[in-house]
Amino acid sequence: MNDNRILIIGSEGQLGIELCEALQKYYPDETIIRADIRSSTHSSNTPFEFLDVTDADAIRALIDKHQITEVYLLAALLSASAEKNIKQAWKVNIQGLLNLLELGREGVIQKLFWPSSIAIFGYESQREQCPQNGIHKPITVYGISKLTGEHWCQYYHQKYNFDVRSIRYPGLVSFKSPPGGGTTDYVMDMFRAATAEIQMHCAINPEKALPMLYISDAVEATIQLMHAESSKITIRDSYNIGGMSFSPKELALALQEQYPHFRPEYRRDFRYDIAESWPDSLSYKEASYDWNYQPKIDFEKMMSIMTSNMGVTAN
Ligand SMILES: NC(=O)c1ccc[n+]([C@@H]2O[C@H](COP(=O)([O-])OP(=O)(O)OC[C@H]3O[C@@H](n4cnc5c(N)ncnc54)[C@H](O)[C@@H]3O)[C@@H](O)[C@H]2O)c1
Repeated sequence: MNDNRILIIGSEGQLGIELCEALQKYYPDETIIRADIRSSTHSSNTPFEFLDVTDADAIRALIDKHQITEVYLLAALLSASAEKNIKQAWKVNIQGLLNLLELGREGVIQKLFWPSSIAIFGYESQREQCPQNGIHKPITVYGISKLTGEHWCQYYHQKYNFDVRSIRYPGLVSFKSPPGGGTTDYVMDMFRAATAEIQMHCAINPEKALPMLYISDAVEATIQLMHAESSKITIRDSYNIGGMSFSPKELALALQEQYPHFRPEYRRDFRYDIAESWPDSLSYKEASYDWNYQPKIDFEKMMSIMTSNMGVTAN
């Protein structure tokens, strides 16, 4: 394992910061390189490089310089940001992925992790326990790019035997870094507003439950999948994984137990429809069967972690 040299692209985002910390338990610091288009704002012993994932030559030069064997490609424009910048979203989410898949085809890198999203589902998908191979009709730029990316991953695996692995993350909940422009960002906004006793506006339907995952479960799943034997991985587009499911109203009620004055205001915008199109919860039996995926953090544990780390004290 220690011959591996790891590159995390998009390392300064919500997931990248925590994935980097977790990978440091498995690999020596100098074998992990962080890269992002924005400067690093958090302390880490791992080297940082500036990189634009849409620049194929720059990626090749960086991989060559650090003799990289494995890449975690996290750079993306998320659902809400992508709707506002269609062309850039396509460029980052798809051209960025193709740049790495090509390096895999050429044998320059041996393994790639690339995340997909619940945004590949749409109105016609099953609402409860949405299956792995349900109806995939995304309604967003982001969802279209993620579904296209899944097909590209499967193609490069089937045609060129490149070891690319992927997970469809639900909305990720965390406290260490601000969320990056997704539809489920309202969760972190609610915790922040309740803690700071300020007003917040939630753009989505208060009753709409969405699949969510606490960040440590997402990070653990990612490392578990990347460490699984290749023969165990039967799905090469992307694995459904799940954890909890809750609506804005349920979260607000739970927060009101500790912050009785917290009253979010519901003010619908374009994110309302995005959320409506997504399933309420996901079935993840394939991930459990193939590589023993099992989430550990349920709603109560998530509330406890988030409130204690955001300085909320229980009554
Ligand atoms: N956060 C979620 O709820 C969620 C849910 C489903 C899937 N995902 C996926 O997980 C991955 C990581 O998400 P995140 O929440 O950490 O996102 P984020 O927005 O917090 O972080 C993405 C990082 O990518 C960087 N980036 C953007 N354009 C770049 C470019 N051209 N070159 C290099 N870096 C660039 C950004 O600066 C940022 O640091 C993404 O692929 C996202 O689609 C996230």
